[in-house]
Amino acid sequence: MSQPILEVIELRKNFYPRRGLFSSLSKEKNARSIPAVDGVSFTLHENETLGLVGESGCGKTTTGKAILKLMSMNSGEIRYRGTDITAYTPEQFRPLRRDIQMIFQDLDAALNPKMRIADILREAIHVREADADAVTVQRQIYDLLDLVNLKKNKLSNYPSELSGGEKRRIGIARVLAVRPKLIVADEPTSALDVSIQAQVINLLRDLQDQFGLSFLFISHDLQLVELMSHRVAVMYLGQIVEMGPAKEIANSPRHPYTSILWSSIVEKRSREIPVTGSASAWGVFDFERPLGGCRFAPRCPVYAERGRPSICTDPANSPTLKVASEGHVVSCHFPL
Ligand SMILES: Nc1ncnc2c1ncn2[C@@H]1O[C@H](COP(=O)(O)OP(=O)(O)O)[C@@H](O)[C@H]1O
Ligand SMILES: [Mg+2]
Repeated sequence: MSQPILEVIELRKNFYPRRGLFSSLSKEKNARSIPAVDGVSFTLHENETLGLVGESGCGKTTTGKAILKLMSMNSGEIRYRGTDITAYTPEQFRPLRRDIQMIFQDLDAALNPKMRIADILREAIHVREADADAVTVQRQIYDLLDLVNLKKNKLSNYPSELSGGEKRRIGIARVLAVRPKLIVADEPTSALDVSIQAQVINLLRDLQDQFGLSFLFISHDLQLVELMSHRVAVMYLGQIVEMGPAKEIANSPRHPYTSILWSSIVEKRSREIPVTGSASAWGVFDFERPLGGCRFAPRCPVYAERGRPSICTDPANSPTLKVASEGHVVSCHFPL
């Protein structure tokens, strides 16, 4: 396998939800912190796509933002091409800002509504080549449009005049302008029609082949993730519960949660009906007295079928990632 480009080791990020006027003064604050990302470790190789999948709120975006230093973390280590960049100052990190880029979920937040498309791309090109002359910049703008299959006549438009798919393509062109090596793509097909989603996936895969890019591909949709990724990591309430080759995760999932994720209604349902042990689990989560054992147990069909084995909820026996087969790990006492 190719060299690691990114190694994330035991990443942790807690949030302190606002509870009241004086909550920031209260000692209680620590007791109520939410471990949004709770000991996440993975390696991404050069030219590889690792999919990060899980329901909304499981910590995917937080993980992505921590890698780009858009968000501080509580503990953990991040290595880029073998170098520990965890403690890099903004000054030290600046050269890497071009290498590591993020495609943000929100189509509109990514593009300045007051700038024409040509100016958005020009600005991005100048990030890499501050003194590029006008002719060079113009040529590069056309090249970028070619790469993302957009016509030149869009250049004089404002973002609001483009369709969702076109905005996404411009967002991708803007990221490509700085010639990144590693792209964190956070739900890059959300808010797009299914046919456009497929086009964006194909575009990202073509770009990967052409430029040898590495992707951390974040999505709540396991089908999309399987299509896009070489390997897949499945997250549940801040932790990776299964990770392995995309085909295996899709065809023979070992974690009951992964298998449930295949019914794509899970994401929708969890937003509509509070499910015990999912969103509401955060409500009872106490950082100093963590929920014991497996976090998925309250929703787990295997736990129910087996007559609620005590090991699943035993605080002294929280499941950890164990090798299920080569390159495939799962964190479950009773894997499928
Ligand atoms: N800035 C924030 N302040 C407080 N809580 C946050 C913040 N950002 C995210 N969270 C919480 O952290 C958890 C993980 O969020 P996020 O990483 O956005 O999940 P995902 O991208 O998987 O939907 C959620 O419970 C969310 O409510
Ligand atoms: Mg998110």
